[in-house]
Amino acid sequence: MKTTEFIKNLPSDLRSVLETGDRNLFFNKISLDPMPIRANRAWLFEIAEYDLVFKRFTPKGKRDYDIDALKDLQGIAYFPVLYAYEEQEFLIMQKVPGQDIESLMENGMLSEEELEKIREQYKKAMRLAIERKRYDWDMKLEHLFWDKETQRLMLIDFGEYDVFRGTDVNQALEGLLEHFDEEIDMAKEW
Ligand SMILES: Nc1ncnc2c1ncn2[C@@H]1O[C@H](COP(=O)(O)OP(=O)(O)O)[C@@H](O)[C@H]1O
Ligand SMILES: [Mg+2]
Repeated sequence: MKTTEFIKNLPSDLRSVLETGDRNLFFNKISLDPMPIRANRAWLFEIAEYDLVFKRFTPKGKRDYDIDALKDLQGIAYFPVLYAYEEQEFLIMQKVPGQDIESLMENGMLSEEELEKIREQYKKAMRLAIERKRYDWDMKLEHLFWDKETQRLMLIDFGEYDVFRGTDVNQALEGLLEHFDEEIDMAKEW
């Protein structure tokens, strides 16, 4: 198991386990609670004590871009902190606060004003990602998390964040925003 510089910010008991790089020690010492989520490309677990998420790839998800993309996106506040990983196997990241926008909209819990803020933040996040040469080919509202308390957006699931090989950042951004607007319009019609 590999670790990132950010493990220095974790509580010392967890940090000392991760520092060894010994995944068996990690599985023995740290309890993982399965999240109630349909497994497709990954199994998700919560490490509730530390506000972390453990994402383990299914055979289908082994070649996904999560780890490589997250490494490129570190330091951008819209993306979760990556703490540890084993290529093609699993990663350990920050659990993002809030709730996904799809379910918030389904329950009529987002105001127009909030939707405006979400769009603005989404635009900033995607511009920063594209500048780091990462592009989301699988834009879904369920991957946008909104924290009502702080009015902050965070993104999850980087499985389809392929390397951006284009040159026109603005055009790429427009494409994503168009898709975002369509998804929002569809969700409103529900
Ligand atoms: N960092 C995270 N913080 C909070 N919830 C997460 C996080 N990562 C994943 N989840 C939850 O787990 C679900 C599945 O994770 P996701 O990365 O989308 O897996 P998959 O690649 O199988 O689609 C998400 O829709 C979300 O509800
Ligand atoms: Mg997903």
